[in-house]
Amino acid sequence: MAAIPETYYTAYGSLKNMRVETSDTVLVRGATSGVGVAFLHLLKSEFPQVRVDGTSRSLTKEAQLLAVGFDGVVEDRDGQLQTNTAYDKMFELIGPATVKDSFLHLNEGGIVCSTGKLGGQWYLEDFDPIFDIKANSYLTSFYSGNVDDDKLNEMLAYIEANDTPVKPEKVFSLDEIQDAHRYLDSSHSFGKVVVVNHQ
Ligand SMILES: NC(=O)c1ccc[n+]([C@@H]2O[C@H](COP(=O)([O-])OP(=O)(O)OC[C@H]3O[C@@H](n4cnc5c(N)ncnc54)[C@H](OP(=O)(O)O)[C@@H]3O)[C@@H](O)[C@H]2O)c1
Repeated sequence: MAAIPETYYTAYGSLKNMRVETSDTVLVRGATSGVGVAFLHLLKSEFPQVRVDGTSRSLTKEAQLLAVGFDGVVEDRDGQLQTNTAYDKMFELIGPATVKDSFLHLNEGGIVCSTGKLGGQWYLEDFDPIFDIKANSYLTSFYSGNVDDDKLNEMLAYIEANDTPVKPEKVFSLDEIQDAHRYLDSSHSFGKVVVVNHQ
């Protein structure tokens, strides 16, 4: 229970803003992150038939991404997606550093939801909304601070109704907290990590 927010709430709010439909194809940019994997579980538990691909800078994580439920893996090399595929919906966790490139891989009428800033860039630069938000498409976001009891309970009801997997990928004890940080900072980090305060 304690491990669900803020990660799942961030993914859930973004999912709602993306207006996913059963005919959509979806790309999660930054798929190996805790929020990325949570988003996959939330989406697939309601729409198992929707194709969801995920990106990583390292294809060594491909097997892990497929095992957790992604349908395909795209390499994100130096901020450029290594694919010619276009998607209907894009969950953008690298953020302002790559939003422009994401729109190059979005179908007409699609939605990019820029919720993360893993790329380390906070603000959009050299971004012309008229040209860079491609043909009749949309740019949105989600802020986890936009929360109250009703919104949080709505997410918990969704998780219960859809039997959404919420188990963290890795659990550390408090005396292993340095290992937990090392793991998250390493090139092997994957999914949601929690630290449990054993007495
Ligand atoms: N909008 C909100 O209210 C809200 C709320 C919570 C979190 N967030 C944001 O959501 C994002 C995900 O959070 P999280 O806790 O799930 O992250 P996390 O688990 O720590 O993400 C780790 C992943 O980030 C990728 N990564 C790390 N540095 C990167 C870089 N310089 N460029 C591209 N990818 C990089 C790595 O993927 P690869 O090595 O596989 O490429 C790594 O597996 C963060 O930006 C966080 O700030 C936003």
